Amino acid sequence: MTNKPAPTEVAIHELIAGRWSPRAYSSEPVSRDNLRSVLEAARWAPSSYNAQPWRFVVFDRSVDEVSFKQAFATLVPFNQGWNAQVPVLIAVTTHTLTSKGEVNRCAPYDAGAAAMALVLQAHALGLAAHQMSGFDPNAFRAAFQLPKDVEVIAMIALGHYGEVDKLDPVLREREKSARQRLPLADIAYGGGWKKAF
Ligand SMILES: Cc1cc2nc3c(=O)[nH]c(=O)nc-3n(C[C@H](O)[C@H](O)[C@H](O)COP(=O)(O)O)c2cc1C
Repeated sequence: MTNKPAPTEVAIHELIAGRWSPRAYSSEPVSRDNLRSVLEAARWAPSSYNAQPWRFVVFDRSVDEVSFKQAFATLVPFNQGWNAQVPVLIAVTTHTLTSKGEVNRCAPYDAGAAAMALVLQAHALGLAAHQMSGFDPNAFRAAFQLPKDVEVIAMIALGHYGEVDKLDPVLREREKSARQRLPLADIAYGGGWKKAF
């Protein structure tokens, strides 16, 4: 299953409506060109003061199985289940301090923007990408000896679409269920808190 467009209230670009978070992956490796392409998309994300605080750590099972397994081991059991076939994990990390050593309060925002660019580019390439917060950041920090001022924010599963029928029954249903969001009127206010847009 590759296509699960958002049932939008207003028409939006396919790239945004069509991106979703699949859990069925094949084990086919992601080409180096495609990996470079998604990372390049992230590179061109905007950031406060153009600080570009994000850093991505790529774990490519076909290149370095040992480090892939170390990263995989930090996922919570639920995520390990559906990531069993995933060929690439990408850790989204960010420097948390500015060049002056002050807290960069926009760092997580900027890293999230870069991650979104990455997953949109993955969708544009026909790849499947799924962001995850379900992992142990302390275990990741220890395993990969992150510098003190670097936080790991998310992991991204990246690969080719796989067969939904190979998922367990609960996830199979979830994979097929309609995508949902709060109504537009609940997330956009006009001219003041909770004032109708
Ligand atoms: C920061 C972040 C963390 C997430 N963590 C997980 C996770 O640990 N496991 C999981 O299965 N999905 C995770 N998701 C996927 C969300 O559940 C998914 O984006 C949401 O249900 C909306 O579905 P859609 O992306 O298909 O539109 C995460 C998404 C984001 C953006």
